Amino acid sequence: MRDILPPESGRWRRFVGVFVDVVEAAGYGELATPLIEDLGVFVRIGDATDVVTKEMYDFVDKGDRHVALRPEVTASVGRAYAEHRPVPPWKVFYAGPNFRYEKPQRGRFRQFDQVGIEVLGVDDPYLDVEVIALGWEFYRRLGLREVRLIVNSLGEPDDRARYVEALREHFEAAGDALSAQSRETLTKNPLRVLDSKRPDDQQFIEAAPDIADYWSDDARTHFDVVLVGLDRLGIPYEIEPKLVRGLDYYRRTIFEYQGATLDSAQNALGGGGRYDGLVEALGGPPTPGIGFALGVDRTLIACDDEGVFPVEPVQIDVFVVDVTGGLEAVELTDELRAAGFVADRGYDNRSMKAQMKLANRSGARTAVIVGDDELVSGTVVVKALDGGEQHPVPRTDLINHLRREATP
Ligand code: HAM
Repeated sequence: MRDILPPESGRWRRFVGVFVDVVEAAGYGELATPLIEDLGVFVRIGDATDVVTKEMYDFVDKGDRHVALRPEVTASVGRAYAEHRPVPPWKVFYAGPNFRYEKPQRGRFRQFDQVGIEVLGVDDPYLDVEVIALGWEFYRRLGLREVRLIVNSLGEPDDRARYVEALREHFEAAGDALSAQSRETLTKNPLRVLDSKRPDDQQFIEAAPDIADYWSDDARTHFDVVLVGLDRLGIPYEIEPKLVRGLDYYRRTIFEYQGATLDSAQNALGGGGRYDGLVEALGGPPTPGIGFALGVDRTLIACDDEGVFPVEPVQIDVFVVDVTGGLEAVELTDELRAAGFVADRGYDNRSMKAQMKLANRSGARTAVIVGDDELVSGTVVVKALDGGEQHPVPRTDLINHLRREATP
């Protein structure tokens, strides 16, 4: 877990702002869910997933409830839908922190932020296209170029079940040649073995059956239509038959946006898919659902690597230097800010030299200086900080003067 300091924190806010612009323009409204929920909500992510078995920050609260910090938001969105029963289609977005007890490394943290969207109540494969395209558009707005979109389908629940059995047989045949961890995973959920990054396992993963051979006609048609829609929008994608994603609620379309500059274990900048059974599992009516979440921390690392979406410190317009005790600066900064200028000042009644140093360091374009002579004559000195000239200005004309200077 880490602190995000200024000016980096300003970039986070702009990041969320760009995301909100993209998704609000497509009819999504913000949903805020609690950071803590009943553990049962998150168990629906899959009781054989790492997220649920190893990474949950769960505890018993003072009222004896077994609760957890959210490891993601989709399960909470499903829970909120089951609870409030909004009229579908329900198109929501969210932004905020999530918690997973993972091994921290570049691009992997125990507290990390996501922005995401979810749509509940629509089965249309063209919605899958919309959702995938919105993520794609967001990366484009950030200026990222090296993002790959990979897609796959997990089929209908029956297809998936038959596929899981085929995988089980395939990996069991590998016997002890499979890593001990993957043999353990195999007993719980054969799909997760496909996520293994261990070198021992790679040859067996490559030789494993493909889900496409288990798709029902309906699943195949749905996926084909999604691809047609992506083609129509000119969004480049790669079909990755071994993409299964790390959470168990997925059905049919799944996808990931991968960055080129991070290690392969952390290269997913975002991902999502359909989760048609989730709302029902949370006590709601049978409801199709689809969405994605994009990792803020990781995407900003990708931005740094690609040299796009840079940190932009707030530009100070005016720095007030008051060597008469500081009360003049109180009033001047107040007036300047009310007039719409970004204004900062020196404190602690420091010397002219020390305050001018601060003024220069602040990046301000202009310094407004008050000394004893100015106080007597009702003026201030306006100084251009890029080495330019300085001149006295009547105090009462300061705001107009600065406005005239700002509009050439
Ligand atoms: P996820 O793949 O677990 O999916 O996470 C989505 C994104 O969150 C990842 O691609 C990554 O960028 C970021 N992320 C995940 N864990 C970490 C971590 N420990 N440190 C930094 N970043 C991380 C979900 O969470 C699903 N809820 C996505 C979804 C929405 N599916 C349907 N709707």
